[in-house]
Amino acid sequence: MTKTKPDLKIPEVLEVEEEKLFNSLRASDWEEFVGQEKIKQSLNIAITASRKRAEAMEHTLLYGPPGLGKTTLTHLIAKGMGNNIRVTSGPAIERAGDLAAILTSLEPHDILFIDEIHRLSKVVEETLYPAMEDFALDMVIGKGPSARTLRLELPQITIIGATTRIGMISSPLRDRFGVIHRLSFYVPGELAKIIKRAAQKLKISIDQEEISELAKRARGTPRIALKLLKRVRDVTEVHGQGRVTKELLAQTLDLLEVDPLGLDDSDRRLLLTIIDKFNGGPVGIETLAATISEDIGTIEEVIEPYLMQVGFLKRTPRGRVVTRSAYIHLGKPIPAEREEDQ
Ligand SMILES: Nc1ncnc2c1ncn2[C@@H]1O[C@H](COP(=O)(O)OP(=O)(O)OP(=O)(O)O)[C@@H](O)[C@H]1O
Ligand SMILES: [Mg+2]
Repeated sequence: MTKTKPDLKIPEVLEVEEEKLFNSLRASDWEEFVGQEKIKQSLNIAITASRKRAEAMEHTLLYGPPGLGKTTLTHLIAKGMGNNIRVTSGPAIERAGDLAAILTSLEPHDILFIDEIHRLSKVVEETLYPAMEDFALDMVIGKGPSARTLRLELPQITIIGATTRIGMISSPLRDRFGVIHRLSFYVPGELAKIIKRAAQKLKISIDQEEISELAKRARGTPRIALKLLKRVRDVTEVHGQGRVTKELLAQTLDLLEVDPLGLDDSDRRLLLTIIDKFNGGPVGIETLAATISEDIGTIEEVIEPYLMQVGFLKRTPRGRVVTRSAYIHLGKPIPAEREEDQ
């Protein structure tokens, strides 16, 4: 008997649909937001304190690899403050005038969420400085020698910025945030809780053992955990009897080429390039970036953090080095000179 393999490539329409689904799963209160305990505590203190003082909350910058909960946390902050939230993003604000229009339309204590804040243009960024510091907008009236600056008062608002690329935030911008948090990867136990809750909401029958397996494969990332759950559900609907079994799970993970530690294509490509082309390293970041045609920032801030977390990659003064355990994981013969390092 031949089973037809479902096509698991995700077309763009589905991506949108998926995003909607994930939004419906978005933690709607602090209890549902698993992990990141220190950040939750600190944000709650900031929220309570500013509510007591009847002031806007301090400007907050959230950063970390994609899918770890920056957007979700922002919505929780808005809910906690009981204030309106206006959502925009770095690339969406094209001109300083666009930002001025948004800022002047806000009410006191409103939150302006700027996603991908590293993509703000220089002029827009500079317009943001007085808005953050003095709740003011400096407008240039007229042109040439008769031009003058007019200062416009703004309501007290909170800017929340999110970025996966903290290295691209200029220090003047960074310094204007009173609160800065880096989100970290989740441990499998935390991801299992997130998967369990989502499975309940989506009415997917799945046992703890399969939940744990999914959690291990989610690359420390809630968004990936939810995506995997959704794919397993699809496979179960096509091939199963309504319950996620060990076999269906294995089949799905196999089709998606998700390896036992959840490494994805970019992860494997980076490690294999260092192994095959640079004999395991050390290789300088510039050379590596050019070889895999990826930009340095993405490598440093999106791909590498997880690889270092699982101990497959080391940053050394002479460049990136792949560890012995990465060779073992990828089934590559370990070169003699690497036998001794750990
Ligand atoms: N701590 C958490 N507990 C429960 N669910 C979470 C948690 N963190 C993230 N999620 C879920 O994972 C998904 C991705 O989270 P979110 O969109 O907030 O990530 P992000 O950091 O903003 O990602 P990006 O950098 O791509 O914008 C959402 O569906 C969210 O509900
Ligand atoms: Mg986001």
